[in-house]
Amino acid sequence: MSNTVEIEKRRTFGIISHPDAGKTTLTEKLLLFGGAIQSAGAVKNSKIKKTATSDFMEIEKQRGISVATSVMAFNYNNKQINILDTPGHKDFAEDTFRTLTAVDSVILVIDVASGVEAQTERLMEVCRMRKTPVIIFINKLDRDGKESFDLLDELEEKLDIRVTPLSWPIGMGDRFKGVYNIYKKSLNLFSPNKTGISDDISSISDLNDPSLNEIIGETEADELREEIEMIDGVYDHFDREAYLKGDVAPVFFGSAVNNFGVQELLNAFCEISPSPRGRNTDLKAIEPADPKFSGFIFKIHANLDPKHRDRIAFLRIVSGKFERNTFYNHVRLKKKIKFANPTSFLAQDKSVIDEAYPGDVIGLYDSGNFKIGDTLNQGENFMFKGIPSFSPEIFMELENLDPMKSKQLDKGIRQLMDEGVAQLFIQQPGSRKIIGTVGQLQFEVISYRLEHEYGAKCRFTPKNYFKACWITSDNSEQLATFKRSKTRYIALDKDENLVFLAETPFLLTMAEQDYPDIKFHKTSEFKLDA
Ligand code: G4P
Repeated sequence: MSNTVEIEKRRTFGIISHPDAGKTTLTEKLLLFGGAIQSAGAVKNSKIKKTATSDFMEIEKQRGISVATSVMAFNYNNKQINILDTPGHKDFAEDTFRTLTAVDSVILVIDVASGVEAQTERLMEVCRMRKTPVIIFINKLDRDGKESFDLLDELEEKLDIRVTPLSWPIGMGDRFKGVYNIYKKSLNLFSPNKTGISDDISSISDLNDPSLNEIIGETEADELREEIEMIDGVYDHFDREAYLKGDVAPVFFGSAVNNFGVQELLNAFCEISPSPRGRNTDLKAIEPADPKFSGFIFKIHANLDPKHRDRIAFLRIVSGKFERNTFYNHVRLKKKIKFANPTSFLAQDKSVIDEAYPGDVIGLYDSGNFKIGDTLNQGENFMFKGIPSFSPEIFMELENLDPMKSKQLDKGIRQLMDEGVAQLFIQQPGSRKIIGTVGQLQFEVISYRLEHEYGAKCRFTPKNYFKACWITSDNSEQLATFKRSKTRYIALDKDENLVFLAETPFLLTMAEQDYPDIKFHKTSEFKLDA
């Protein structure tokens, strides 16, 4: 039987932003519209605190909440919407990058006053790399910010993508009157602090309609007409195909906290965003409509209760139908496993499910079988591509403070690495453990969790490496010479792949020049390309 109807209904996406732009607020409002939550405040707490100094208990508490809010599913307009949460804190950027492999599209939130910020650019780079369709929501129009046309220019320039406004603000800050919906040609008037669903939509099909002057005032109406005319002249009409290819980003304006412009965004999202898309494997492309089940693990979350070591692995379904208590291939381990209690995240209520479809994300209880990037499927032995480990930026040597606990420490470290908290490199000779991360906060998380979950104490000593590159070569002689001359800088990753720890950009360039037959890879993706 075909799963087409179920596949067509699903919309799986992530909301991304620079911290503070309003991602959490927007998520919450979308959930309110979807009836998944009854009041504001439920998602708010899921944010990792933005302060640099971290409070361990806070991290723990937030890890707990973030399981619940990692995936939020609800039904709206006959669609099943799956929102995948992405941490805003830059130290968890790698987690966000991995989550982006599990979504089919993205809503990018921009603060009207701050415009494009550093984190936005990095996130957008990943979207561009993956050709993920992006909708941009410009938030906080109730405050003064950058002029709308300037902001569109900035988006195109800094994010390297063409934009098409689908809504347009009437004024801003104190003068913010509302949003004209270019897509639907309707006018939505602004009244601050709205908590319910807006019913103030006046339909205006012709901007020359004199009633517009009465509704928003003559000056504003003229200004709006002029601006819409300019938009017509300057920006291409919305082309859904170009959006789906990741070439054009439609732009919406609004104020998330005031629940304004959010429903327009959600309605348009339901209409234009893609249904679940296929994924590439090392063997062939897999399409959602393929009858055999397949999926991949993109996130692993440890159980908060130290007495229960099981973890939750998040599986994104790519094709076929997932069924409870059915044996599937665990491709890497070459074994068959079945799941008695797979959970869904519908309406934040974790409940056991019997079946799930492409686009869905389900939670699988795991006693240590899974690593990030693992494939589960039926039939052929292929592995999904595109869940890379990124070259870390901060390195520390891990020292065991209690020799009696070295077994616990080893086990703990391996499990934390499988969860993708950080990357482990074992330096040869001497088996020194170097931990690499993208952010400082991970080291605090690691030492706290090693102590509290595995009873092992450790200390970190900074190492001033600049980058870890995975190295491969067809020239075994050259590789052997390189390894001999760089012994101090060679390590193995957790899968025993060779890694070069470069101390400076200069030394890396030198190595690349001196050893032309060696490839220096910046992500671990090469393993699947090989
Ligand atoms: P984030 O997840 O992207 O980090 O941002 P979050 O939603 O937490 O929003 C950051 C701050 O911006 C919050 O204020 C939030 O209330 C505010 N905000 C969100 N949307 C709008 C908007 O449309 N207009 C205005 N004026 N503010 C908005 P806060 O002071 O950090 O938190 P809180 O005390 O308000 O909860």
